[in-house]
Amino acid sequence: MAKTFHIKSYGCQMNAYDSARMADILAGLGYRATARAETADLVLINTCHIREKADDKLYSDLGRLGLLKAERRAAGGDLTIAVAGCVAQAEGEELLRRQPAIDLVVGPQSYHRLPAMLAENGRARIETDFPPEPKFDRLPPPGRRGLSAYLAVQEGCDKFCSFCVVPYTRGAEYSRPVAAVEDEARRLIDQGALEITLLGQNVNAYHGAAGDGGVAGLGALIRRLALLPGLKRIRYTTSHPGDMDDDLIRAHAEEPKLMPFLHLPVQSGSDRVLAAMNRRHTAADYLRQVERLRRARPDLALSSDFIVGHPGETEADFQATLDLVAAVGFAQAYSFKYSPRPGTPAAAREDQISAVAKDERLVRLNALIQSQQQAFNRGFVGRPLEVLFDRPGRHPGQRIGRSPYMQSVHATIAAPGLVEVEIAGIGPVSLAGVPIGAGAERAA
Ligand code: SAH
Ligand code: SF4
Ligand code: F3S
Repeated sequence: MAKTFHIKSYGCQMNAYDSARMADILAGLGYRATARAETADLVLINTCHIREKADDKLYSDLGRLGLLKAERRAAGGDLTIAVAGCVAQAEGEELLRRQPAIDLVVGPQSYHRLPAMLAENGRARIETDFPPEPKFDRLPPPGRRGLSAYLAVQEGCDKFCSFCVVPYTRGAEYSRPVAAVEDEARRLIDQGALEITLLGQNVNAYHGAAGDGGVAGLGALIRRLALLPGLKRIRYTTSHPGDMDDDLIRAHAEEPKLMPFLHLPVQSGSDRVLAAMNRRHTAADYLRQVERLRRARPDLALSSDFIVGHPGETEADFQATLDLVAAVGFAQAYSFKYSPRPGTPAAAREDQISAVAKDERLVRLNALIQSQQQAFNRGFVGRPLEVLFDRPGRHPGQRIGRSPYMQSVHATIAAPGLVEVEIAGIGPVSLAGVPIGAGAERAA
């Protein structure tokens, strides 16, 4: 009987992409996917190191898997436990020491070596190099991904923000050649993808080798991909405000397949904190980018990430963040309490902010963001939106999808796909739609 695998994925979209690629590798080795760890021969946890909470979850998962493995062994069977992703990269050997039940540890830049590691069974237990050969050249072609697919075009980060582990866990910036990206996009489209989200830790710093011997930026890459027949929507994430160049902004004005939504993390509205964070931009720089973007695409919906309670953040600094949020008007945003990460400069500072102050600031920031999200969504009631329905909803017949502006929309739709709906109402974080036009005939 074929061996089975189960992958549990934490963290960002890049990790979701990597998990899918690792599933491709395992399928190529003859493994079959299974929905539960309890029925798998191989359990792979793809980990995230960004905040402390993610680490805690990993160790409780590993505890449970360790017990499962012991039970299996007592009954004459076995379980292979693999840890991949950013904790694997950051902790390496330490993971094996803390949880001896782990069989394999593999970092985000070396998972193309999984087949060799599995074949060596117990001897090559750890791979956390940043190998000279890019893994992308060694991966099997992507399998079926559905209507909306991720495609990694850039990886790593050279920015070294004070708080962030990503430059250490993902390594230096690397951009895939245009032809390799096109090739992967074509395969995803052939297998049914209507939407592709281009991924990178600093995706707008993309500078891939172009066929003509030159270098293509992200704007040029998007224009090339937009020529692919069958592809309806293009998105990209995550961007740094400092890398938003003219050509990319122009693509927002000129390329109809590029969706009117941008996740552009700013982290703070205080220049003092932004400097301490080593973000290399001011609040005014950010507002200027927003203005340029909105001039190019007036209906552009904006999203961001915020950190509250970075070391040294005063009440006045936090107020500057609220002011920036008020000035921009976000369609949605994520906010996080600063979490000290081992090895990062901010973690070593002595002016850490109390948990109470972080909690209190997070509540205030979230309230403002939520009111902006509600106001943004309310503006769509009674209006038509084209939604890519790609997931089943909670109720029978219901499906969930994304609007061009990245809003989550649910409606009763017979089959997945792009459907025009009229927005009938809004919930706390999602919209309710009713199919109209051709979509109405496809409704159940
Ligand atoms: N590549 C992405 C960052 C991924 S991390 C980018 O550059 O935008 C996603 C978000 O997590 C960051 O934008 C930041 O807001 C948050 N984050 C990163 N490190 C953190 C930390 N130590 N504590 C709290 N939030 C953090
Ligand atoms: Fe982390 Fe900053 Fe790089 Fe984003 S730009 S991945 S926050 S170091
Ligand atoms: Fe987490 Fe690594 Fe992504 S730390 S957010 S999985 S790049």
